[in-house]
Amino acid sequence: MGKIPVELFCDRETETRKLIHSLTNGNNVVLISPRRMGKTGLIHHCYDDPCISETYYTFFVDILHTSNLREFTFNLGRSIYKELVPKGKRYAKGFIQALKSLSGSISVDTLNGGPKFGVELGEITKPELTLEEIFTYLECANKPCIMAIDEFQQITHYSEKNIEALLRGHIQQMQNCRFVFAGSERSIMMQMFSSAARPFYQSADTLELNAIPFDTYRVFVHRLYEDHRKKVDDDAIRYVYDLFNGHTFYMQKVFNEAFANTSIHGTTSLAFVNEAIDIILHDKETTYMEILSALSEKQKPLLYAIAAEREASRLTSVAFVKKYSLLSASAVQSAVKQLLAQNLITEVHKQYSVTDKFFALWINQIYNEGVVAIR
Ligand SMILES: Nc1ncnc2c1ncn2[C@@H]1O[C@H](COP(=O)(O)OP(=O)(O)OP(=O)(O)O)[C@@H](O)[C@H]1O
Ligand SMILES: [Mg+2]
Repeated sequence: MGKIPVELFCDRETETRKLIHSLTNGNNVVLISPRRMGKTGLIHHCYDDPCISETYYTFFVDILHTSNLREFTFNLGRSIYKELVPKGKRYAKGFIQALKSLSGSISVDTLNGGPKFGVELGEITKPELTLEEIFTYLECANKPCIMAIDEFQQITHYSEKNIEALLRGHIQQMQNCRFVFAGSERSIMMQMFSSAARPFYQSADTLELNAIPFDTYRVFVHRLYEDHRKKVDDDAIRYVYDLFNGHTFYMQKVFNEAFANTSIHGTTSLAFVNEAIDIILHDKETTYMEILSALSEKQKPLLYAIAAEREASRLTSVAFVKKYSLLSASAVQSAVKQLLAQNLITEVHKQYSVTDKFFALWINQIYNEGVVAIR
């Protein structure tokens, strides 16, 4: 994700203050929110704040796609390297030299005008050792460091068993580096950080990111429009806010589209945002049809049922199975697991929803006409 320019960044003032306060007071932070609520944007926003940027080296790594310690170590190394390159060759070289376990297998490649992280994943044969070297490097840096690890819950799915203890062991000894552990799977993150039996127990301040309040968002949207000599109706903002329960990414996407289609001195009305949503859904149609075509006859009706409810609970109850003519409670049970594993649905406090809210709207438009008042 690219950084959100400061003039396009809405609110998060309290969260920004809290995050900066914890970090500058020497605490690690666990940052939890549903997907696409704004975790990554918030971290970068804080990194750009002078309180942070003038004092710390800041790093960011997303580990969503990693499945073992070797990949973790590789991505950690690469993300540090990427940050160091713009600071000068000396930094990049210093980092490479610190990774002694890889000596001889990495090089500074200046062929394309700058050094390149020349490590291949396969060259990390002793990930535990390389990881230790990376942490030692951060510990010895000439300024304090902040390392944000995005989608941190992923480490619980690694093939190795002792990863939490291993990381915790290193991290608790570090004086010069603070960590932000960000994650979107709330229950896993909470277990990791608030269960006494787990290595990361109470090792970080918790910050949960929820929807931006309506009035704050309303003022923000008006300001953006006015800055560009355009207008937007209040009922259009209210409608989009309610449709997506204030979920940042979806609202921003809709207003981006509506804004672009509104001429100078023109107004974005309710009809306009509906058109914008139609355009977005139309663009995604091929992807959505492909997703559906890969689902089984048990999974599809359940996905439609959850979309119709927006937030569904008690999926295996007789009432739910009957209402949506599903096969049986046991068929629902296995389909739920599969849909969750594919991240097509999300569960928070036993409430299930379709993860991609545009997908939910599209399903309702096509398959649930008459079942739900769509929009
Ligand atoms: N404070 C904000 N102001 C304006 N737009 C925002 C803000 N926060 C997030 N967004 C919008 O929402 C999108 C998603 O935000 P972001 O990537 O930070 O969320 P995330 O929680 O990290 O998501 P993911 O779970 O996919 O990693 C951004 O690309 C941006 O369009
Ligand atoms: Mg993110």
